[in-house]
Amino acid sequence: MMDILQAFDEYESAALAAIDATTSPEQLEQVRVEYLGQKKGKLRDLQSLIGKASKEEKPAVGKRFNEVRTRVGSRLETQLTSMTSRKSAREASFDVTLPGIVPRLGTLHPVTKTIVQFRELMGRFGFEVVEGPELEDERHNFEALNIPDDHPARDPLDNFYIATAAAGSDGPVLLRSQTSTVQIRTMEQQPPPIRIVSLGRVYRPDAVDRTHSCMFHQMEGLMVDRHVTMAHLKTLLTLFARAFLGPDVKIRFRPSFFPFTEPSVEVDMKWGDSWMEIGGAGMVDTNVFRAVGYDPEEVTGFAFGLGIERFCMKHFEVDDIRRFYENDVRFLSQL
Ligand code: PHE
Repeated sequence: MMDILQAFDEYESAALAAIDATTSPEQLEQVRVEYLGQKKGKLRDLQSLIGKASKEEKPAVGKRFNEVRTRVGSRLETQLTSMTSRKSAREASFDVTLPGIVPRLGTLHPVTKTIVQFRELMGRFGFEVVEGPELEDERHNFEALNIPDDHPARDPLDNFYIATAAAGSDGPVLLRSQTSTVQIRTMEQQPPPIRIVSLGRVYRPDAVDRTHSCMFHQMEGLMVDRHVTMAHLKTLLTLFARAFLGPDVKIRFRPSFFPFTEPSVEVDMKWGDSWMEIGGAGMVDTNVFRAVGYDPEEVTGFAFGLGIERFCMKHFEVDDIRRFYENDVRFLSQL
């Protein structure tokens, strides 16, 4: 009998030590299976020892067996409770009502916002948005636009020439000085009728000041069809400006000159008390139609080029164009 009781004692102290050594509920569960498991646990081995005791010894052995089983079981319980209560104490120290750390979300740049809005508005007037390259050749930036070789607009000092002749190109390459290049690219690729806008960057080596930047954005518009007139142009620009800035906006034309339009006008917009120049426009010159293979006897068209920053500055009440390009988030995030 002494052997049996000793086996009980050994089992008990081993089980209690194993329980005390655990640090996670998972470990504790392993210990439980090892010592108390119904199928292979060490307790089953102990139970079979009871059968080996003599009739007189059995009550004492049985009593001790129950005692050992209860002790190990309740130590297991206590260990589990202390583990989970430690965990919930840690959780309680985390105050879910405290304000969190809000991630800073980026927004679109004000010029991009304006571009998105312009595209949307012109889309409603039935104008398709097309893209053109910023690196151009002289044909698209000048020649097909009726700007001859000796025209001052082609002066190397007034343009950003990049290369005298790039690989695969027929001549000098420059950063486009106007989006009118896209008029040519569009008409070269498709027959009339045309109704497109193209919005993007243009580059000019101007002295930088409050209203000038060597890079800015234009929206080019082109409509070619039978019987397109200047009245269509003025109506479209008026509706567009009103849709963007409000019903009290007025549009005025002043006579001007561009090689690729005839007649040509400067477009002014009145918003509030003052007139502001927003771009150039006119009826597409017959030489331009000829350059792209359109028949000037068949079609007429208007074209316009608006400075996007002008609108953007007015809209957001910004008085210095340079602010848009300084990448100062403290400024940009206010718009
Ligand atoms: N391309 C001209 C400029 O940049 C603007 C313009 C476009 C004028 C279309 C007439 C027609 O100044």
